[in-house]
Amino acid sequence: MKIPSKDFKDQTDQTNQTAQNQENSGQREPDRVNTMDDEDRQRAAGLRAEKFHPALWIEGQRSSSLAGKTVVLGVTGSIAAVRVVELARELIRNGAEVHAVMTDAARHILHPDALHYATGNPVITELGGRVEHVEFCGLQGRADLLLIAPATANTIGKIAYGIDDTAVTSFATTALGSGMPLMIVPAMHESMYRHPAVIENITKLKSWGIFIVGPRLEEGIAKIAANEEVVLEVERALGNKSLEKRRVIITSGSTAESLDPIRILTNRASGKTGKELALEAYRRGADVTLVHRDWLGLSGIREIFVESAAEMTDKVLSELETGYDILISAAAIADYTAEPSPEKIKSGGELVLRLKPTRKLIKECREKYPDLVIIGFKAETGVGREELLERAAATLEGSKLDLIAANDVEKSGMGTEDNELYLLGTEKGKIRHISGSKRKLAAIILEEAAGLLK
Ligand SMILES: Cc1cc2nc3c(=O)[nH]c(=O)nc-3n(C[C@H](O)[C@H](O)[C@H](O)COP(=O)(O)O)c2cc1C
Repeated sequence: MKIPSKDFKDQTDQTNQTAQNQENSGQREPDRVNTMDDEDRQRAAGLRAEKFHPALWIEGQRSSSLAGKTVVLGVTGSIAAVRVVELARELIRNGAEVHAVMTDAARHILHPDALHYATGNPVITELGGRVEHVEFCGLQGRADLLLIAPATANTIGKIAYGIDDTAVTSFATTALGSGMPLMIVPAMHESMYRHPAVIENITKLKSWGIFIVGPRLEEGIAKIAANEEVVLEVERALGNKSLEKRRVIITSGSTAESLDPIRILTNRASGKTGKELALEAYRRGADVTLVHRDWLGLSGIREIFVESAAEMTDKVLSELETGYDILISAAAIADYTAEPSPEKIKSGGELVLRLKPTRKLIKECREKYPDLVIIGFKAETGVGREELLERAAATLEGSKLDLIAANDVEKSGMGTEDNELYLLGTEKGKIRHISGSKRKLAAIILEEAAGLLK
């Protein structure tokens, strides 16, 4: 059973109120705190102290994607334990409440005070009369997820064989038995990672439905996955599943048309919107493909590198043959291309470029896939609201889109962190005006996209 922080706040408010009433009236109010037994009082006092731990001032500063979620962070004896101070902070920045539990080997690498500071909660280093493993991961446990990061070869092996002889393995045994999601982030030398038993154990854990994140094989080390990747996987495991089992393909950023082997013709699109759409679709459980001329590098998201408008159109069309539910065309695809010179064009003199129009990606996709949900973007400059909406409505209809997001990029959009968009769907006259961070806007667009699926 979770103890929502709200309940705790109410309790402290009550106590403060009681104290105030006593001061103001000189009369003693019924002392509600006395209804608590000693253990409850100690617990509330403990919670109160931790609630105001300065480390928690960052709570929810990045997003509220994990608000109301309790994550138990199991730390084992890998040198990568030094990385999880920042991981705990990232989970808190996205709204999670984090409690750490450490093995003895982990305590030789990282002092529990570092994780007490990072999480704002006392660290569990051994189990006591509170049966912490049951309190957090039992059938009615407070936790939503047990995240073991880093996970040593030793702890992975123990979990695979049901061995329970450290604080972390006791949490794992309890979480597995109660059906609580368990996520494991291995970290070790590559030589350890290649051991047949380790490979077999990880395969076994996957077959039990345990999420395995990473590792990244670099410099002869099976390195702990990046914090950004772990947080994304936690958000996917605990978040809204509105796109689960759906396939979403997203084009992003700018394209580049070759003028010669060195020079390109491109535009100012940064790819931030496309990236946020891909991350948000992934958080919502989708199978995501991102087509762009950039690199995101998150193992859950499939990326296809393309450069020109023609390459982007060809790759999206061939990819769609494998079956997708949603296409989001967020890339600023070049409208014009050139016949590239095979040699570097000599500099110095005046140069006249002859440009020809590119193929229209959305038009070709719609012709081939009449039932696909297609979402487009319309960027205009220096037009008033009415003109922008009229042009967006014409594109929506002409290109047979399901939804269009229109913006005046002179105000914001290209390369900015925030944006302002108008969303127009096929329902006449229904316009949604949204503004904020590109992450927030991506969440709204994907919520609309999920609603468009049959
Ligand atoms: C400095 C140091 C770094 C270590 N790094 C790793 C590691 O990255 N991965 C791993 O599997 N074991 C690593 N070990 C070995 C484990 O600490 C050892 O297997 C220990 O028994 C693990 O216990 P635990 O799984 O209960 O934490 C390291 C040991 C030391 C001393």
